[in-house]
Amino acid sequence: MDRIKITGGERLTGTIPISGAKNAALPLMIASLLTSDRLTLKNVPNLADVNMLARILRNHGVDHSVDGKRADPNGYLGETFHFTARDIVDTTAPYEMVSRMRASFWVLGPLLARAHQARVSLPGGCAIGTRPVDLHLEGLRALGAEIDIDAGYVVAKAPGGLRGARVVFPKVSVGATHNVLMAATLARGETVIENAAREPEVADVAECLVKMGAKIEGIGTSTLRIQGRDRLEGATHTVLPDRIEAGTFAFAVAATGGDVLLEGARMALLETAFGVLRQTGAIVEETADGVRIKRNGNAIEPVRVETQPFPGFPTDLQAQLMALMTRANGTSVIRETIFENRFMHVQELARLGADIRLHGDSATVRGVGTLRGAPVMATDLRASVSLVIAGLMADGETMINRVYHLDRGFERLEEKLSRCGARIERLTAG
Ligand code: UD1
Repeated sequence: MDRIKITGGERLTGTIPISGAKNAALPLMIASLLTSDRLTLKNVPNLADVNMLARILRNHGVDHSVDGKRADPNGYLGETFHFTARDIVDTTAPYEMVSRMRASFWVLGPLLARAHQARVSLPGGCAIGTRPVDLHLEGLRALGAEIDIDAGYVVAKAPGGLRGARVVFPKVSVGATHNVLMAATLARGETVIENAAREPEVADVAECLVKMGAKIEGIGTSTLRIQGRDRLEGATHTVLPDRIEAGTFAFAVAATGGDVLLEGARMALLETAFGVLRQTGAIVEETADGVRIKRNGNAIEPVRVETQPFPGFPTDLQAQLMALMTRANGTSVIRETIFENRFMHVQELARLGADIRLHGDSATVRGVGTLRGAPVMATDLRASVSLVIAGLMADGETMINRVYHLDRGFERLEEKLSRCGARIERLTAG
């Protein structure tokens, strides 16, 4: 199993290109199930989760191809993927595949909408709480699906097709919004989704669906109004930049000090987190090419933050913020309101000397003068990268084990950081 070795203490200086967003690329790929025409996606990040989902889609009968390397001055521009779901030949998404990545569960809505039946394993993914799927199932039931759970599988059918309905989510769910939105584009009549997730990745998917011929009003708001169509067409869409990757590198620069341009990052996708970074003492500026982060010598100021659905502070940056706060000039309080059990990084950060106390859904982080490198273990995607940030700040060597979690969501992490001066390398298992 690969490991990552970091020798801390270097400042980060230079340019980091931001990849296409994983959390948009995955549902966009799934949207290809809604049409027999070709869907072309540009700027797709090369990640383990993307490759796994492509395998799952091929199993449903989707043809998939990737354009070869193009002469492009920006060697980081993501890949171009083509998907054609001419016929859905298999409506089962098997346990072996879905258990490895939660987002693959979102094939349920599109399969039901297009093929009127689906058998999808209950999902896996990062172990950050119980992560139920009740909102997905209730939403699809409202559209007329008959759903049973049988031997770990969701078995669903919609004889005669789905029909539009009013879906009011009692809680904001990104995945349930994707699932019901995609299903509604091919349902008969109008669907109104209330309390829909407003995450930019949901809007990106909705915009792609509109290019495919879907009729959607309210994109970017918490009420989505969809007029179902008989069929959708092919389209070409560019995946929006990954705001979580951008935020992660921004926290890394605030942690080590330095001056980095996050090329392609967009301030509007991450206002709250950049605001928090400013409170910590970093300088954040939007430029024509992206967002520039600087911290030069001044102390890291403590903050009080709670995670919230968009436009609030994202849960996917909570662990990275906590890593930064381990060295703050005082005590911070970080409250996690989205997922229970999303504090697995705490015990690993403690191995580097962090002083963190947990009480319920909150963590109190007392800043310490120094962290010291140590062997640590990656536990989930975002927790792993918080250990990278801590390792970059720590004195001496930090060895991160189980880095496959990082490969699920961060493209060329070591390369992007080492180009900015970090001493970080991957040790490949022989
Ligand atoms: C997505 C993101 C993930 C991010 C999360 C919250 C992708 C691929 N993943 O995950 O990176 O951390 O949004 O921004 O885009 N819930 C229920 N019942 C359900 C569904 C969800 O109770 O049927 C709960 C969850 O347990 C959680 C909350 O709702 O407490 C939010 O989860 P949700 O927004 O659905 O997260 P994901 O879509 O899985």
